[in-house]
Amino acid sequence: RELPSILNRMPKAELHIHIEGSLEPELIFEMAQRNGIKLDYPSIEELRAAYAFTDLQSFLDIYYAGAGVLQTEEDFFDMAWSYLNRAKADHVLHAEIFFDPQTHTSRGIPFATVIGGLDRAVRRGREELGVSASLILCFLRHLSEEEAFAALEEALPYRDRFIGVGLDSGERGNPPEKFARVFARCRELGLHLVAHAGEEGPADYIRDALDILKAERIDHGVRCLEDADLVARLARERVPLTVCPLSNVKLAVFHEMHDHNLGRLLQAGIAATVNSDDPAYFGGYLNDNYAATFAALPELGAREAYQLARNSFEASFVAEEEKKGWV
Ligand code: HPA
Ligand code: ZN
Repeated sequence: RELPSILNRMPKAELHIHIEGSLEPELIFEMAQRNGIKLDYPSIEELRAAYAFTDLQSFLDIYYAGAGVLQTEEDFFDMAWSYLNRAKADHVLHAEIFFDPQTHTSRGIPFATVIGGLDRAVRRGREELGVSASLILCFLRHLSEEEAFAALEEALPYRDRFIGVGLDSGERGNPPEKFARVFARCRELGLHLVAHAGEEGPADYIRDALDILKAERIDHGVRCLEDADLVARLARERVPLTVCPLSNVKLAVFHEMHDHNLGRLLQAGIAATVNSDDPAYFGGYLNDNYAATFAALPELGAREAYQLARNSFEASFVAEEEKKGWV
């Protein structure tokens, strides 16, 4: 009865959103047109119809292709501005936003163009929308550690425009240890550290992201329930998991929402949060993720709604002082 309205209106933070995954088909077509790029799909509807995924890789192929329309600083600004407006509508007070510079620099787009557009949107979002936001640079784990080091090097002149680094793209066969040295370097630089782990990859990758990479937060992490010792540790150490329910169902990590383990994670005492991952591709923004999970999982009620919102602020990288105003 009242729950859908509570879920929609409660203040929340979003900690797992890939900005390239917020690029709606409408914007892809608009940018393709203004940049003179020919798309493989004749219409918005046909592009959207191709969003039928069987696993992570089948999604990544389409996601990287879609990002190919981004050329100018204006494009990066427009993409992030559009997301921030959606976030505002969902009562998101704070967002920590991933971006994938290697997806763009490998196409000849300068890092300055990428960060320039994103940073301008973040600043304007703070001023005009009252949404606080920061950027987290993700390394693509299907590429080499050497390439990650090169991406870091290119980004360092803009060190003040992002707060941390993450690790995304195809998880299987690309374990955390592959990036041990680049993460150690980022740690020395005082950057926050997060990593995708335990989405398609095994529970061991979650442990290695903590022990080897020193990740402060785990993105997805839902496969932790396969390892009881790990679950106990995550709960004891209050390691946040940024769970993305609609993404998990679309990428067949869970067969349907009814099978999702979000309720079990909370019951185990884990600081789980709800996030949208790639909202333009997975059928919804943050409030859609809350709505879909609470509709499908009977163990989730008002208490859990409050807990998840609280977790989202506590798991964020904002200063403790600022958090006090939120939780
Ligand atoms: N997993 C890995 N890489 C990604 C994802 C994801 O869910 N979304 C965008 N890049
Ligand atoms: Zn993700």
